[in-house]
Amino acid sequence: MTGLVKQLGLIGKVLSHSFSKSYFNQKFDTLGITGYRYDLFELESIDEFFPLLAAHPQLVGLNVTIPYKQQVMPFLEEISDEAGKIGAVNVIKIEHGKLSGYNSDYYGFKASLLSWLPAGWQGKALILGTGGASLAVINVLKDCNIPFQLVSRQSGPDRVTYEEAEELDLVSSHQLIINSTPLGMQPNILTAPALNYQKIGQNHFLYDLVYNPETTQFMRLGSNQGARVKNGLEMLELQAEKSWEIWTGR
Ligand SMILES: NC(=O)c1ccc[n+]([C@@H]2O[C@H](COP(=O)([O-])OP(=O)(O)OC[C@H]3O[C@@H](n4cnc5c(N)ncnc54)[C@H](OP(=O)(O)O)[C@@H]3O)[C@@H](O)[C@H]2O)c1
Repeated sequence: MTGLVKQLGLIGKVLSHSFSKSYFNQKFDTLGITGYRYDLFELESIDEFFPLLAAHPQLVGLNVTIPYKQQVMPFLEEISDEAGKIGAVNVIKIEHGKLSGYNSDYYGFKASLLSWLPAGWQGKALILGTGGASLAVINVLKDCNIPFQLVSRQSGPDRVTYEEAEELDLVSSHQLIINSTPLGMQPNILTAPALNYQKIGQNHFLYDLVYNPETTQFMRLGSNQGARVKNGLEMLELQAEKSWEIWTGR
């Protein structure tokens, strides 16, 4: 690597499935962007974060994935309002040794959802799963004034179980349903959240954060009932582009 090349990359525990490296390398090729490279850095634990920075002084930006989106936050000098509210960072900018954290999942989901729902759409949402991705979804729905109910395998004061959702017939009363669980993702492509899909109809919108495969089982079960469905690819691309903007200002 020459001294002029600026390095970008992704940190996470298992990165063999990563979309980001091929996305950025293709972007660099297609747009003739020189002077940048994008690498994958598998970290056994977050203790390897500062040694990684020391070993790669040309790093100017990082994406962060499972399981470090929350664990990396105490190491950052500045955290954007969105990332602070969400409680997770998936983009780090490194400028003159200063580390700033952002959340581009929030931006990607918001832009993708709002361009998909019809203008002026009003209704309530079910958010399936309560992990890292759902934190961004929750904050987008709050900021868009879309009332929502969390559905989880565990009951709790702020969530219902899938069994309770069935008993209360929440599928009928919530016309936006967002899968933020990994169910349906490669290689387990025949799995889907445990909903009563018979209650879904033409007025429903099913958004799956999963993007691989292109049509998930959740989407298939919804579109069989006449619902409009969308996968997570656009969100993924929008969050990658937002990362690029954060790192480079372009
Ligand atoms: N399109 C994008 O740009 C984008 C961005 C981020 C994430 N994603 C995708 O979104 C999905 C969720 O990501 P994440 O980081 O939040 O993952 P995660 O933390 O591993 O899981 C999210 C939640 O899903 C529920 N869950 C997990 N395994 C389940 C199972 N076997 N059955 C039912 N529920 C289960 C759990 O919630 P409960 O314990 O409450 O049930 C868990 O907290 C992944 O597929 C990821 O690839 C996509």
